[in-house]
This record gives sequence, structure tokens and C-alpha cells, in this order.
Amino acid sequence: MLDIRYEQAAAPAQKPQKGQPLGFGHIFTDHMFMMNYTQGQGWHDARIVPFQRISLSPAAMVFHYGQEMFEGMKAYRTPDGRALLFRPEMNARRANESNRRLCIPELPEEDFIQAVREIVRHDAAWIPEDPGTSLYIRPFIIATDEFLGVAPSKTYLFMIILSPSGAYYPGGMAPVGIWIEDDYVRAVRGGVGFAKTGGNYAASLIGQVKAHDEGYSQVLWLDGVERRYVEEVGAMNIFFKINGRVLTPELNGSILPGVTRDSVIQLCRSWGIEVEERRIAVDKLIEDYNNGRVEEIFGTGTAAVISPVGKLRYQDDVMVIGDGTTGPLSQRLYDALTDIQWGRAPDPLGWTMSV
Ligand code: COI
Repeated sequence: MLDIRYEQAAAPAQKPQKGQPLGFGHIFTDHMFMMNYTQGQGWHDARIVPFQRISLSPAAMVFHYGQEMFEGMKAYRTPDGRALLFRPEMNARRANESNRRLCIPELPEEDFIQAVREIVRHDAAWIPEDPGTSLYIRPFIIATDEFLGVAPSKTYLFMIILSPSGAYYPGGMAPVGIWIEDDYVRAVRGGVGFAKTGGNYAASLIGQVKAHDEGYSQVLWLDGVERRYVEEVGAMNIFFKINGRVLTPELNGSILPGVTRDSVIQLCRSWGIEVEERRIAVDKLIEDYNNGRVEEIFGTGTAAVISPVGKLRYQDDVMVIGDGTTGPLSQRLYDALTDIQWGRAPDPLGWTMSV
């Protein structure tokens, strides 16, 4: 159990007005959580302080070798005014999977959850209420030793910042166009693909820029060895409905184990819809498309929720999926998931936690 010290912001910032478009990740609340780690002492000095700039040595190891991890979560405002988290224990567990891979000291899962609950409770007035909006939660840990040798740092900073946000994609639920990248790769098995660490996203930027230049909003990555099997999109996992079956790439070590991915699999199974987690070859996908078997494609993520894919391009093949609107399974999943998250429907699987 953390002993958290509180320092109140002198002048609270202006909160977004009702109806004001929030975008994603631009606005920050009045406070943030901080906690230090020192080798020999462990995690210490848990505190909630005014949101502010932090001062680090230019030699801080995170700047040079990227030893850092992050998580993404949301707090939702229910119609009766409560604040809910969604499966925070999954993020706490995944945070430690990332920590272990990156030689960052683990954080007790109950401390991670306590820190998230306390900072969200403290700035709960910032949880937006407009439809589709939530308070995006970004926990992260950075290596802070002042040292240029390549080695695990002996000191770290754990922080949580909060951002009232709307849809991740500017077009909201409108189907996105996705570019299947066959030159650059994002991750390989044995690497850090399964971990939530900045380097994975840095590695993905070049593909995203290329995709944007070609008129697509996101990149679908192929496996790093054969460049044949579908892995994930930059900010989402990916699902296909082909010939009545729901498929998603299996977790093979280079794919992020998404909380929304897991929730979608469980929801589908609870509705009697079979989901296969397996390798999905891009050439087979094109063959299925050409035979009229591809019914729906959608991405899943905490930030993106359920994001229908309207168009896919692989080399010279352009696949237009559905009729340009959200497919029935994508819509059903979006409605079921968001109804649970926003507390509008019963939560039979016990996924939500009150702040
Ligand atoms: C999330 O969905 O929360 C993520 O962390 C993806 C992020 C790159 C926006």
C-alpha cells in the first residue's frame, strides 16, 4: 500500500467546456502522480503534485538508450456520475511484463492500481461527460541515471498523467484506410514487440509517414522474418471476419497483448461467435478478398476502441471492405464494450472498477 503525499495546484486550470472538441492527448489535468525508484531502496516518495515540467539531466539514460515503458488506460463517467476504470489489473500485469523485458524494476500490481485510482480520483472533475469522451490515463516509467554507459539504470521515475480526450482518430468511428507495409518491419520475436515501450512506436513512425503520403491513416505490420503474416496496426490490434469466422493474429511475442483485443475475444465467445487466434497470411487474405469472403476488418485498442477498416492496400492490391460504413459485428462490439465501460449496461464479466 502506497503512502501518497499530496500537493495541491495553486490555480486550477480551465477545464474544457461541455461540447468542446477534445481531440486526443492534447489537454492535461491539474495534477500528476510521481514516484521514484532507487536501487537498494525500492520505489519511494509516492506523490500527487501539480502538473508541471520535470527537470532531468541531459545524461538521463532514457534519452540515450530508450529504457522506458508506458501504459494506456481510460476513466469513464457513468450516467449516474460515478467514475469507472476498465480492467486495470490487465494494465498492471502488462506493465510488469514490459518492465521485465526492459530490465526496469517491477511495480507491485496493487500499487500500480492504487496510484491510478488515486490520481484519477484526485482529478475526477476532469473526466469529460460528452458522448464518446473519457479521461485517458498514461502511466509511464523512465530511466533517470546520469550515465552514458549501456546498462540498466539504477534509478527510475514512475509517472501518471491524465488527458481528457475524445476519439483517437479525427474521423471518430468512420472507417480508416490502412497500408500494409512490406518493406519496414516493427518487431521480431525475441525483441520487444510485446512490450509497451516507446521504441516500438518510434520504429513505426517511418511506416506511418509512408502510409500518410499514400493517403492511408495507419500501417498494418507484417511479421519481421517472412513479411507474410499480419501482426498489428501502430496503435491497435487487428481482427478480420472472413466467411463467418472471426480471426486475429495469435500472440507470438512480437504483438502487443491488447486489453481491448482480449475483451473483444471474450465478448465474441460469450455470444457464441468463434474466434481463432492464429497466423494470418497476407496472400491468403487477398485470395479471400478476391473470392468475396472478407466481411469486416476492425482494429481494437484502448485509445481507438473499435475502429472499422474501410480500405486496405498491399503493394498494388487495394481492398475495399464493406460499403464504407461500420460493419454489424464492429458496431455490436463497439456498443457492447462502450456500454460496459461507460456503465450503461450490466458488467457480467466484472471488468469495471469504481474509482
Ligand atoms: C492505447 O491504445 O492506449 C495506446 O497506448 C496506443 C497509443 C499509441 C495511443
